[in-house]
Amino acid sequence: MVVTEQENPLLEGLRLRRTPEPCAMVIFGASGDLSHKKLFPALYSLESRRLLPEKFAVVGVARTEASGDAFRDDMKEAVRKYGRDELRDDVWDRLAEGMRWVTTDFADEGGEDHLAQVLNEVDGERGTQGNRIYYLAVPPGAYETIVEAVGKRRRTDGWTRLIVEKPFGHDLDSARELNALLTRYFEEREIFRIDHYLGKETVQNMLALRFANGIFEPIWNRQFVDHVQITVAETIGIEGRADYYERAGAIRDIFQNHLLQLLAITAMEPPIDFTADSVRNEKVKVLKALHTPGPKSVVRGQYGRGFVEGEEVPGYREERGVDPSSTTDTYVAAKLYVDNWRWADTPFYVRMGKRLARRETTIAMQFERAPHPPFEELAAEGLRPNVLLIHIQPNEGVSLAIGAKVPGQGLQIRTVHMDFLYGGAFRTGMPEAYERLILDAMLGDATLFTRADEIEEQWLLVDTIVAAWKRDRPGFPNYEAGTWGPPSADELIERDGRSWRRN
Ligand code: BG6
Repeated sequence: MVVTEQENPLLEGLRLRRTPEPCAMVIFGASGDLSHKKLFPALYSLESRRLLPEKFAVVGVARTEASGDAFRDDMKEAVRKYGRDELRDDVWDRLAEGMRWVTTDFADEGGEDHLAQVLNEVDGERGTQGNRIYYLAVPPGAYETIVEAVGKRRRTDGWTRLIVEKPFGHDLDSARELNALLTRYFEEREIFRIDHYLGKETVQNMLALRFANGIFEPIWNRQFVDHVQITVAETIGIEGRADYYERAGAIRDIFQNHLLQLLAITAMEPPIDFTADSVRNEKVKVLKALHTPGPKSVVRGQYGRGFVEGEEVPGYREERGVDPSSTTDTYVAAKLYVDNWRWADTPFYVRMGKRLARRETTIAMQFERAPHPPFEELAAEGLRPNVLLIHIQPNEGVSLAIGAKVPGQGLQIRTVHMDFLYGGAFRTGMPEAYERLILDAMLGDATLFTRADEIEEQWLLVDTIVAAWKRDRPGFPNYEAGTWGPPSADELIERDGRSWRRN
């Protein structure tokens, strides 16, 4: 009888070749949303698979006055609400035993002392051996104080690592400043810049698809690929984050990080191995090869009122906390070129936006048409070019569109899909991105984190796009919520005789 991971989650633990060393994880901003929705549910899922080190502690740090018990209760509730696994008391108790709470705003020296003292106690009680992971889940304004505080107090026994959440800067200069601040106290191999898209199974599967199969690499280039489309479409709006989003817009919120990561993984050369530097070197080369798009190759949009999934929703300018004449972009589409031997002249059409018709993140590789179909024209009327479609989410999987004969007399050809669906092929649940990323940071593996030069290349591109936008005032809103974005985005691709995928 085959026992699946669903029936026995410990199997996943057995498959992992390395176990993290004992350590204490300090979460700054532990009373925030990220902690509730992602970090603790992820820690719980790791614990339930026995993937956390046996000697482990997690110290929550925030300004909120709370007790250790209140912290544990609050996070238990969060795991119940947002976790992917059913909450089991025995698993929870194991995790909760190592949970501590420290109240400080870090402006006072006393706070630092208190944290240092708690960590010392934890080393004694939990055997965490002076190893530390500091997780910055606070607004960027608080980074400097915290990084200096923990940097200055680095211990010589045990290792120290730093996980930094996004946004990592808001332009090239600020990203450079932040990198300079971090590298004053930490080495690059100790810094883990989060882009949670890299923790997604399906994004990692792109690497497996490309480099574990012999059949794709030979056709993964300008000779066989007509163009690539990358879509990050969301139905949600800004979810009460007006303060952040007004300054970010889709270009900084999605394009600068998630979208460019998807593009880099799609376009990169095969790395010589899967070490952090080999993989990241190849991604950086793609970013360096990206041609700066001219103004005609970038479209921005902002949603107006409309209907999403049958419900009426307000326009962006009507959202709470948003300037009623805001020119913040909630949609971006662009045509990009990777100027290298593999991809020269092959367009990468990318689009991303909030309040679109459907939630979907996909990478679609459209191949050249068959050079000479020997059928009558009518026979192949329903035939579209081959497309390799990678469903990042939802309905995670891969699908290949091919032409097939419709059963019956005569010869009629239509496009059909060969599908691989995660849900069907593997009976294990999909881990959350944060589980993988937290575990990798504990193992000291930075492959799925963004390196300093990578983030600076991303910002370089974003800065040039944003600078061009400053020259004119956009006529916003320019798309209705619940649609596929502004008509100008259709024109962007249709000018080239192509169209956006709709399914
Ligand atoms: C975050 C953005 O990084 O990614 C959000 O700040 C966005 O605005 C989210 O909604 C999307 O993540 P996911 O995993 O739901 O695709």
